[in-house]
Amino acid sequence: MRKVGIVGWRGMVGSVLMDRMREEKDFQGFETIFFSTSQAGQKGPDVGQGESILCDAFDEKLLKTMDIIVTCQGSDYTKEMYPKLRASGWKGYWIDAASALRMKDDSIIVLDPVNRSVIDNGLAAGIKDFIGGNCTVSLMLMAIGGLFHENLVEWISTMTYQAASGAGAKNMRELLLQMRHITKSVNSLLDDPQAAILEIDRAVSESLRGKDLPTENFNAPLAGSLIPWIDSFIPETGQTREEWKGFAETNKILATSTPIPVDGICVRVGSMRCHCQGLTIKLKKNVPLEDLTNIIKNANEWVRIVENSKEETLKHLSPAAVSGTLNIPIGRIRKLNIGPEYLTAFTVGDQLLWGAAEPIRRILKIVLEYLHRG
Ligand code: HSE
Repeated sequence: MRKVGIVGWRGMVGSVLMDRMREEKDFQGFETIFFSTSQAGQKGPDVGQGESILCDAFDEKLLKTMDIIVTCQGSDYTKEMYPKLRASGWKGYWIDAASALRMKDDSIIVLDPVNRSVIDNGLAAGIKDFIGGNCTVSLMLMAIGGLFHENLVEWISTMTYQAASGAGAKNMRELLLQMRHITKSVNSLLDDPQAAILEIDRAVSESLRGKDLPTENFNAPLAGSLIPWIDSFIPETGQTREEWKGFAETNKILATSTPIPVDGICVRVGSMRCHCQGLTIKLKKNVPLEDLTNIIKNANEWVRIVENSKEETLKHLSPAAVSGTLNIPIGRIRKLNIGPEYLTAFTVGDQLLWGAAEPIRRILKIVLEYLHRG
């Protein structure tokens, strides 16, 4: 029986992964060993394979006995343990939700509904490192992978609206604490329908700028505001690292021979766990809108075309509608009046599902099937 070690299963992405694996009855046909960086020796989860005891996530000797290691523990853990294991000659499969190994020459960024052939070729060629992609990139490709496959995209500009969850669990809490703090400051005014809106607004602005607003994690107000900055600065280009990933990861996922330019501005907004993106797509040729819509729709079973009407948009094309689901709605699809080769669209996706846990869950199954066949 193959041995699968799971590290970082209690964090946010790890918990979503565990839930999805339970839901899909994935814990079958292999032995699961749960590792912990802080609670070795304590009781682990029962996933239908009997009670388990947590093993030490720094126990190199034990990790080396795994056929597959799945980690959602984060890049620091990867940077510490991965080189040690490989240096010691470990030849198992490393499946990782963190970004540390994404751009390594011999790793594959996994998003199988979009790059299954890249994955299959990689497995056949002996690739052992399969890494989850940046959430924004994965969600964009889930939405318009069809256009890339039809070789229709000359370049793309992605303007993002990214959820608090992308910054971490603490940030999600901070967003809500900020909301509470702001509304508290105007509670009595809100209860009075006669209160002047500009008076309410003044109080809100004061609390947004005041020193009592909790900003330890975002370093700025997010509730009632937004933050047009995600991740660190790349001085050479003026991009943030999140923006840089758009080009680098899209092209790596698709294994393009001629890189397709992807760029835009990444913005944090007050959504909980769904990222949205406004896309401007320069097509290689003028294709009728109906054909483009069909290509997008038929690319995978999760993408959903939302009719370009107010009613359908409000109903289906928002974080509120998508949160906790695997649906990838894409709407507001139309040609821009810049010219017939310019397409625009707006898309939404759950950052913790297709943006993080789901590609990891699926690559584990793909690797297990490959080993089974082999
Ligand atoms: N970097 C993303 C964000 C999440 O900050 O929203 C992880 O892919």
